[in-house]
Amino acid sequence: MCGIVGYIGNNDTKEVLLDGLEKLEYRGYDSAGIATLNADGLHLSKVKGRIATLREKVNNSVQSTMGIGHTRWATHGAPSEENAHPHQSASGRFTIVHNGVIENFYEIRDEVLSGISLKSETDTEIVVQLIEVLNNKYNNVAEAFRQTIALLKGSYAIALIDAQDQDTIYVAKNKSPLLVGLGDGFNLVASDAMATLKQTDRYLEIHDKEIVIVNRDYVEIQKLDGIAVEREPFTAEIDATDIEKGTYPHFMLKEIDEQPPVIRRIIQEYQDENDNIKLDPEVRQALLNTDRVYIIAAGTSYHAGLVGKQLIEKLANVPVEVHIASEFSYNMPLISEKPLFVFISQSGETADSRSVLVRIKELGHPALTITNVPGSTLSREANYTLHLHAGPEIAVASTKAYTAQIAVLAILAVDTAQAKGMNLSFDPLQELGIAASVMESLTDQKEEFEQLAKEYFQETRNAFYIGRGMDYFVVQEASLKLKEISYIQAEGFAGGELKHGTIALIEEGTPVIALSTQENVNYSIRGNVQEVAARGAKTCVISIKGLDQETDAFVLPHVHELLTPLVSVVPMQLLAYYAALHRECDVDKPRNLAKSVTVE
Ligand code: F6R
Repeated sequence: MCGIVGYIGNNDTKEVLLDGLEKLEYRGYDSAGIATLNADGLHLSKVKGRIATLREKVNNSVQSTMGIGHTRWATHGAPSEENAHPHQSASGRFTIVHNGVIENFYEIRDEVLSGISLKSETDTEIVVQLIEVLNNKYNNVAEAFRQTIALLKGSYAIALIDAQDQDTIYVAKNKSPLLVGLGDGFNLVASDAMATLKQTDRYLEIHDKEIVIVNRDYVEIQKLDGIAVEREPFTAEIDATDIEKGTYPHFMLKEIDEQPPVIRRIIQEYQDENDNIKLDPEVRQALLNTDRVYIIAAGTSYHAGLVGKQLIEKLANVPVEVHIASEFSYNMPLISEKPLFVFISQSGETADSRSVLVRIKELGHPALTITNVPGSTLSREANYTLHLHAGPEIAVASTKAYTAQIAVLAILAVDTAQAKGMNLSFDPLQELGIAASVMESLTDQKEEFEQLAKEYFQETRNAFYIGRGMDYFVVQEASLKLKEISYIQAEGFAGGELKHGTIALIEEGTPVIALSTQENVNYSIRGNVQEVAARGAKTCVISIKGLDQETDAFVLPHVHELLTPLVSVVPMQLLAYYAALHRECDVDKPRNLAKSVTVE
């Protein structure tokens, strides 16, 4: 959460910073600011609100060739101009942007900075004040920066500038992402390569607790003890057009439409020349070696994990537990003798998942990360990675990553079954191809879902989704999508569980969306629909061909029963999208949220 951009070069920096911050708004968008430095001194602009508001405030007549910028998702202190970054030291000499959470914020404030009156409520300000205090002691900025980094506990990505030095940006990170972008006569700093793709596609990774000195013409990486580090740059393989909306009104709609091509790309990437599954042999062996898979994830990725459990257990006969990352960290269950931990994460940066990864690595357990960002923290730190190949997902509400995760999990499940010598009648690559075509036919019928969204969600304050088996997992995702972007209070329930309490909430006109794609529970879920209808609910059944009834609101074309989530989620995503649109919500940037959740 929070996005950082820094530039040092020979051109004016404002536009690079503002454009970069716009690309990073997915990481947080409650306040923003930039600081630029030139011979006249430091120029600071901060606003509560979005980058568009910041743009209006920035003084266009100020020219500068270095600066840092920040877009914020509040942790310490409400979104406000005072709490917006960059923050400055008491004298105004040092200016900093920070992403993450400083855990020993109170200790530093009370023990080292007691004489300094702080201007904001943020944990960030203590970092910049500490740098000034230590610089007063050592009279050496690099040393003060190093000593500060050594003292900090928690997560951080930091860029610092000194008003007395127009040639250096000081950079460091721990747990939070930060990259250095390399150019000819300029260098950059960014939370994500997406921010600076217009300038470069060459990047240097920074490792935790390294100190990086970024100059116009060189970048110097040092360990905390001062030892220099040599590192080869890498090329970011992101197509700049992937991060533009094109003709779409919202990234979310674009990303819903991208799902069929993403599934086809996954088929290609995981298929060898004989049309068999192609998978890293080490991943295959890890699955063969394990007696139990522990899936760890958050939010939408957790929902994909629930589907993954069914796929791996049903197809490969390997027991699977699925855990919410933030719960697992503090309530570790008994672990089997030969566990394999599977981290599912679109961003690969989710702090809750990373804290589990750190813990299980200490215990010596192997880890596989399934992610859309192969160079991400969770990917680097796990033993193995499977790539989702979904292309950048920009809308805060995850759509194409969810279906990509399910597709990769299906491939993994079948590969494990085949490696175990099991004879399956299920050809995952062929079945995924069929699912992709069905998804495409659904994205072509947007008006139908727009109509349903109007009918069911226009006026309501709340909504229920019900399903059983696989459908129960999908309705949990459906309700998350609806609530996060339309702010309608929505829950996804197991159909049979309603009568044990929740049915008390059903009133005249309460929308209840039921999903029925599983043969073994088709009659039971329809029974549950009758129960709520009898109590006044406004019901809407989405079923699948072969299980459909005349009164169903929509019938999905047939796909393999194990892959129904890939197709049944598409109407759910579109219903949420249109509900939010009709309520005039900010679809791509819902309130209080951020895309990459890098705080615990
Ligand atoms: C919801 C959504 C979130 C993420 C969750 C985990 O639409 O996007 O629930 O799924 O924050 O993020 P990743 O997958 O990046 O670990």
